[in-house]
Amino acid sequence: MAIKLNFEIRQVEANERPLIAAFLEAQWGSVQMVSRGRIHLADELPAFIALWDDQMIGLVTYQIDGDECEIVSLDSLMVRIGVGGALIQAVVQQAAYHCCKRVWLITSNDNLSALGFYQRRDFRLVAVYQGAIDASREIKPSIPLIGMDNIPIHDEIELEQWLYPET
Ligand SMILES: CC(C)(COP(=O)(O)OP(=O)(O)OC[C@H]1O[C@@H](n2cnc3c(N)ncnc32)[C@H](O)[C@@H]1OP(=O)(O)O)[C@@H](O)C(=O)NCCC(=O)NCCS
Repeated sequence: MAIKLNFEIRQVEANERPLIAAFLEAQWGSVQMVSRGRIHLADELPAFIALWDDQMIGLVTYQIDGDECEIVSLDSLMVRIGVGGALIQAVVQQAAYHCCKRVWLITSNDNLSALGFYQRRDFRLVAVYQGAIDASREIKPSIPLIGMDNIPIHDEIELEQWLYPET
């Protein structure tokens, strides 16, 4: 049965950066996100938040680089009511507004639910970067060795959504 809760999605404002940092620390243990060997300070990136009853219940951070947009982090605290999907939609719309051709992201090999979540939202698998997270762990030692469903975390998986026909 579908649950209908009214939450709001909006861009993060400059004075909310400490709140964003605290949220990321709570979810990921750090504001640092490593993807493709690059360190992002996610609390400084453009972001959308989801609010319900003035409580922050979700966050997506992203980085637009030329005609590509990377989703750097995505978190929902009230799952299965549409928050994650709405945050992704907000980034895709923003990427289209900035004439990006592609929205892409990295997830870890243990995150089977995210792989399903993104593929059900028009993202396609691009590549597996074997051992990339083992390498990232050298930069960010707080990355756990064991992840969801007791799966050892080793590899980055790239997914993408093309906003215009691939050229
Ligand atoms: C992955 C994640 C962001 C999904 O967030 P979410 O808020 O649950 O996402 P949604 O509610 O939009 O969608 C989740 C499911 O709930 C269902 N759903 C959405 N609204 C619903 C509603 N009103 N009633 C019932 N079910 C609903 C959706 O159909 C969806 O299922 P589907 O993927 O089979 O389509 C969340 O699980 C999360 O934060 N995970 C941990 C961090 C993470 O893995 N991030 C991504 C790695 S990059």
